Amino acid sequence: MPLFLLGAVLGSGTKAAEVNSAQIERGRYLVHGVALCIDCHSPRDEKGQFLAGKHLTGAALGFAATVPMPWAPAAPGIAGLENFTPEQAVKFLMTGERPSGVPVLPPMPAYRMDQDEAEAVVAYLKSLAPQK
Ligand code: HEC
Repeated sequence: MPLFLLGAVLGSGTKAAEVNSAQIERGRYLVHGVALCIDCHSPRDEKGQFLAGKHLTGAALGFAATVPMPWAPAAPGIAGLENFTPEQAVKFLMTGERPSGVPVLPPMPAYRMDQDEAEAVVAYLKSLAPQK
C-alpha cells in the first residue's frame, strides 16, 4: 500500500477511536454527574460510601415511597446493560419504554434524553464490565 494511503487509513481509524472515547467520557459524566444514575444503581457500604469497583452493579434502595404505591424493590445492575441492545437502551432513555413494554417502576425516572445524550450514556454503560 502506498504510504500516503496507509496514513489516511491509520488516521481515520484513530479519529473513530477518539470520537468513541469522547462519547464514552461524555456518558460517564452524564451518568455520574448529571442524571445521577449512580445514586440509585450503585451499592454503598453501611456509611453510605460507594463500594469501590462496584459502580452501577445494582443496589437496594435506601428510601421508600411515603404513600403506598408501586415501588421497585431495588435498582438492578446496569453496568454492561446486558438485557438491552444499544438501540433498545437508547429508546428507553429517550421515552421511558422498555423493550418488553412493561413500564418501569418508580423511583426509576422516565428519562426524556436527547438522542446524543442517550447514545453517550449507553456507550458508557456498555463499556463497563457487567457484574457476575
Ligand atoms: C431515583 C433512583 C434511580 C435513578 C436516579 C436511576 N434509576 Fe434506573 N432504575 C431504578 C429502579 C428502582 C429500577 C427498577 C425499576 C423496575 O424494577 O421496574 C431502575 C431500572 C433501570 C433500568 C432497567 C433495567 C432492566 O433490566 O430492565 C435501566 C436500564 C436503568 N434503570 C438505567 C438508568 C440510567 C441510565 C439512569 C441514569 C440516566 C438511571 N437508571 C437512574 C432507579 C433509578
